[in-house]
Order: sequence, then structure tokens, then C-alpha cells
Amino acid sequence: MSLFDAFRLDGKRVLVVGGATGMGAAAAEVALGLGAEVTVLDIAEITTVGAKAVHVDLRDTASIDAALAAAGAPFHVVLCAAGVADGTEGIEKTNFLGHKYLLERLLAADALPRGSAIGFISSAAGLGWEKNLDDLKVYLAIEDVAEASAWAIERKRADYVWSKQSICAYVATQAMPLLARGIRINAICPGPTDTPLARANAETWLGFGAGYRAEVGIEAATPLEQGYPLVFLCSDAAAGISGITLITDAGHFAAGNTGVWPADTGAVHYLLGKF
Ligand SMILES: NC(=O)c1ccc[n+]([C@@H]2O[C@H](COP(=O)([O-])OP(=O)(O)OC[C@H]3O[C@@H](n4cnc5c(N)ncnc54)[C@H](O)[C@@H]3O)[C@@H](O)[C@H]2O)c1
Repeated sequence: MSLFDAFRLDGKRVLVVGGATGMGAAAAEVALGLGAEVTVLDIAEITTVGAKAVHVDLRDTASIDAALAAAGAPFHVVLCAAGVADGTEGIEKTNFLGHKYLLERLLAADALPRGSAIGFISSAAGLGWEKNLDDLKVYLAIEDVAEASAWAIERKRADYVWSKQSICAYVATQAMPLLARGIRINAICPGPTDTPLARANAETWLGFGAGYRAEVGIEAATPLEQGYPLVFLCSDAAAGISGITLITDAGHFAAGNTGVWPADTGAVHYLLGKF
């Protein structure tokens, strides 16, 4: 035993929702490397060696119920990593409402014991959530998935930015009630990361911040570079951290926000909801 053991996940059961590819798959690999027993849920084929694979469609609550029954319980770490881009039918469900439903089912079943942790993947695109907090609270309070989905569609908010703002607001508002049950919740907000999803939307997703990256001499993040902090936030080494949305964008928003990289100040201020 050493102090470093707090970073490990030995003996823990980890559920990765949306872990077939990209950051979720990388996080699953990290968790396996840290000694966890890993179950991956996804709509796509899951090929991670050493993980239990369970099919789920996050747009369908019956599918989520069936997946949770197949996955078993309890879980000490839940990573909510599934996501799709604008233009995908049911984006509000895949990116947020399905994860929320899944977590609420786990909580109702007492399947997240004291000491467990939840880690979401939000996005730098969701960082302007505070300006919309009143509306987000109304949305988060709608328990029924179909009703919440209809609410978002009616208000033209069934889109990527709203889904990521929802995650940030959910993390911030759930941190206290969850901690009263001994559970922590956090999110990472990645910048452009080289995954199948980003490649499929390369111009907008990987084009964002390209000038900043060229200036500092880096590439878009790798999935692993996002998987590490996501898993860390759910380890005992992060026991003092809850309710945060950690910006994992290699300093891009910090530079844009402060005018250190003025080329992106307008875009960053827009995404932060500053005007
Ligand atoms: N790649 C980026 O630049 C970037 C930046 C910021 C945030 N993100 C977010 O990171 C998360 C991971 O995305 P990624 O870039 O690794 O892409 P990815 O496509 O590799 O991973 C997303 C996963 O979600 C799964 N999924 C999609 N629809 C589903 C459904 N209905 N039910 C269950 N699973 C479903 C996919 O099959 C896939 O395995 C997403 O939430 C995305 O919004 C990505």
C-alpha cells in the first residue's frame, strides 16, 4: 500500500456509458489499467478487451432499463461519455437525458454506494451555462424523459450547446444533494479531441482553436488525454472535488478569455455566454 493507491481503482466496478469509441473507450482502458472491473454500454459494437459489453440506446428508456439489468450493480464509478453532434435525431436524449435517466435509476436502486463518483463528458461548448441557469433548472426538474425532450424541442433547444449546458448545470446543482449520499459528481469540458465523432464533423469540431494549437505547437487532444482526467476525477485521489466542470482544452479558453490569444477572444466569450 502507498499513497499512490488513491489514484487506482482496484476492486471498483466502473460503468462507462458510451465507451465503444473515442474518449469513453480511452477512459475504459485507463480504468482497466487501474485495476477496475469495467462494464461498457454503447449503441455501437464494443471491442474493449477485458470489459463486459452491454448494448444500449440512450434515446430509449426501456433499452436503458434492460442494459442496467444486464450490467448488474453496484457501481463505484459511472462515466457518462456518450454524445452525438448537431443534426442527429434525439441529440437531447443521447447527450444528456438518457444519462440523467440512467443515473436516476441507479440512485433509486441504491446502486451507487457511499464513496462512489460520477464523471460526465460535457464540452467547452457548454461553458456558457450560468447565464441560462434559470431555464436549465426548469429543464432539469422535468423527470419524464419524453416530457423533457418535448420541452427542449418546443423551445428549439434540442441541440448540442444546450445538451452540454444541461450537463454543466446538472453537475453543479447535483453536487450537494449527491454528496449528502456520499457520491461525488464532476465533468470534463474537452476542447477539440481527435475521435471518430470529431473527424465526422472535422471542419467545425477540429477547426475550432486550430490557430491557437499551431501557435503553441500542439495537436488536437488524444482520447487518452481526456480519459485520464475523467478517470482521475472519479478516483479517491479527487475525494475533495465535486460539482466542477473542468476545462480540458490545453489552455485555449484561458488564453481566449483573457485576450492572451485575441484571435479567439470573440468565440470564447460567446461560448462563455459573455455577450
Ligand atoms: N471530440 C471532441 O472534439 C469533443 C469535444 C468536446 C466534447 N466531446 C464530447 O465527448 C464525448 C465523447 O465523444 P467522442 O468525441 O469520444 O466521440 P465518439 O463518437 O468516439 O464517442 C461517443 C460514443 O457515444 C456512443 N453513442 C452515440 N449515440 C448513442 C446512443 N444513442 N446510445 C448509446 N451510445 C451512443 C457512440 O457509439 C460512441 O461510442 C461526447 O459527449 C462528445 O459530445 C467531444
